[in-house]
Amino acid sequence: MKYSKIIGTGSYLPEKVLTNFDLEKIVDTSNDWIVDRTGIHQRHIAAEYETSLSMAEKAARRAMADAGITPADIGMIIIATTTPEKIFPSTACLLQQQLGIGGCPAFDLNSSACAGFMYAFSIADQYIRHGSIKYALVIGSEVMSRILDWTDRTTCVLFGDGAGAVILGQSNEPGVFSTHLHADGTHKDVLYLDSILRKPMAVEEALSIKMSGNQLFKLAVNILGDLFDETLAANSLNKSDVDWLVPHQANIRIIQAMAKKLDLPMERVAITLEEQGNTSSASIPLALDKAIRDGRIKKGETLLLEGFGGGLAWGSALVNY
Ligand code: UT7
Repeated sequence: MKYSKIIGTGSYLPEKVLTNFDLEKIVDTSNDWIVDRTGIHQRHIAAEYETSLSMAEKAARRAMADAGITPADIGMIIIATTTPEKIFPSTACLLQQQLGIGGCPAFDLNSSACAGFMYAFSIADQYIRHGSIKYALVIGSEVMSRILDWTDRTTCVLFGDGAGAVILGQSNEPGVFSTHLHADGTHKDVLYLDSILRKPMAVEEALSIKMSGNQLFKLAVNILGDLFDETLAANSLNKSDVDWLVPHQANIRIIQAMAKKLDLPMERVAITLEEQGNTSSASIPLALDKAIRDGRIKKGETLLLEGFGGGLAWGSALVNY
């Protein structure tokens, strides 16, 4: 029996930081409102020359160095992004070319939004378990700052830019115990980004996130609670078996509710929200990389990864690190 295992992680954050106090000068908001309602203090914003591709490459090279492998070892590249370099070719194909490799499958998952990393992670896990590839490069990379309406205080204060990468490698020991994916298109209008290809419309209208935050908040708490039950039951484990929660970073109140559901103290939750905001599909690998590199997450510990976003789409993975 073969498993996949996390053997390396890497991340990249743009240098520029935008604080809540900076935002007070742009829209009618306050540091207190943003901190109280979301937990966010600041976010990173990509420079003009930076893209989801350039950030993905930096995160990928760090993850490969961490795993002790070279680009030639990679058997599959998946990039989760709602902000791709081009509509096509995929950002993953462009990255493949920049890494100087060819031949392996490379594709983007750009429709699962903030759940995109969990979808990418699950697909890579299946291929490695099946034995068809040995190493997969799984990335979440986002320039959310380019799809925000900077006059809309209900969305522009929430998001940030960045990239995170994970190398999954084949292993005889688990590894990834299980992954779980779901979607429910009946909630399609709760969070979406329109496309200029659908009908003639202004670029500004098409390229800005629309969100019913309050509705999404309630949906998230319900679906994630059920998702945790499903993930633990599939592995005949109890919540006391989970050492770490590595959640999508949307709102500290959602994360606190999920930690409570698992009876985990907040010290056992990988959080980057305060400094990074919501980086959509990049948020899970960014949080994972941070907690591994600063020594909080240790080898042999059991991690529960979860993400949710537009679709609605949501997913989880239970992992022995
Ligand atoms: O990654 C994708 C997943 N995204 C999420 O999961 C987001 C989930 N939702 C949330 O995180 C929260 O719903 C928000 C942080 C987006 C909003 O918090 P809330 O507690 O649900 O606030 P609300 O939407 O009910 O708005 C409360 C008030 C409103 O004013 P009135 O109508 O009560 O007068 C808003 O207009 O807060 C106002 N408001 C703001 N005030 C200051 C909304 N945005 C802001 C703002 N600054 N930035």
